[in-house]
Amino acid sequence: MGIKEKEALVQEMKNEADERENKISKNLSGIKRIIMVMSGKGGVGKSTVASSLALALAKGGSKVGLLDIDIHGPNLPKMLGVDKERMNATSENRIEPVRITENLKLASMAFLLEDENQAIIWRGPLKMKVIQQFLRDIEWGDLEYLIVDAPPGTGDEPLSMAQLVPATSAVIVTTPQEVSILDVRKSVTFALKLNLRILGIVENMSGLICPHCGEKIALFKEGGGKRVSEEMGVPFLGSIPIDPEIVESTDTGIPYVTEHPDSEAAKAFERIVGKISKIQD
Ligand SMILES: Nc1ncnc2c1ncn2[C@@H]1O[C@H](COP(=O)(O)OP(=O)(O)OP(=O)(O)O)[C@@H](O)[C@H]1O
Ligand SMILES: [Mg+2]
Repeated sequence: MGIKEKEALVQEMKNEADERENKISKNLSGIKRIIMVMSGKGGVGKSTVASSLALALAKGGSKVGLLDIDIHGPNLPKMLGVDKERMNATSENRIEPVRITENLKLASMAFLLEDENQAIIWRGPLKMKVIQQFLRDIEWGDLEYLIVDAPPGTGDEPLSMAQLVPATSAVIVTTPQEVSILDVRKSVTFALKLNLRILGIVENMSGLICPHCGEKIALFKEGGGKRVSEEMGVPFLGSIPIDPEIVESTDTGIPYVTEHPDSEAAKAFERIVGKISKIQD
């Protein structure tokens, strides 16, 4: 291939990339703020935090979208009790998210799987393609918030999201103990490297309130999230206690924050939502 042809090919690739970005930014143009919920470690409560924040924001009157980009373990539909639903195609061949409440819509890879036990083997470029398609083709309409639930770590999914939507902000979830805190540092560094705006750190599973005496037991210690936020110079958004009802809600698909609005954990989510909604661009 001669120099001229090579240049033409590079130009063509650049044009394609620009077109892709244009389509995505056009599709997301009605969305005011995009927040990705991330963590360094698995099982710290990202999906719980993402869905609870989305529900609490929607309850407060905002139009909210929830996007599950956990391709290997998409569990938001089950958590929100809509795992039997499917996303429909619109007449213009676009994808309609599933409605959860008046103000909340959900899009997830799980809606595209034949059955929930199906395992998917995806290579990096394919993951990027499917996330790209979600960002380009899902019809969200106007939203105040799009909350994105990412899989753990700093892999292809959060990377694709950060590259395809540079305006993404990040909320980083951790549990209080030292091993999780080590991973949170990696998430902060990753987010900073990709120029994501870090809204702050949430410490989940922060103490257990004894159902008998009402005293707080520091099951996994407490305060690690705040410490690491100070150390790394990022805001601390708040801590959420352990509540066995959250596990129950996750398993039965009955949203915790709307079902137990007076619980300590639901109030903690409300406080975090209050902080997030006050953050200005
Ligand atoms: N504050 C809490 N109190 C009690 N249980 C909780 C709390 N937060 C999360 N859980 C439970 O912990 C488990 C893991 O939570 P979740 O699925 O939200 O984590 P995750 O970080 O999204 O996991 P993954 O890395 O696999 O995506 C769930 O069973 C959930 O119900
Ligand atoms: Mg999850």
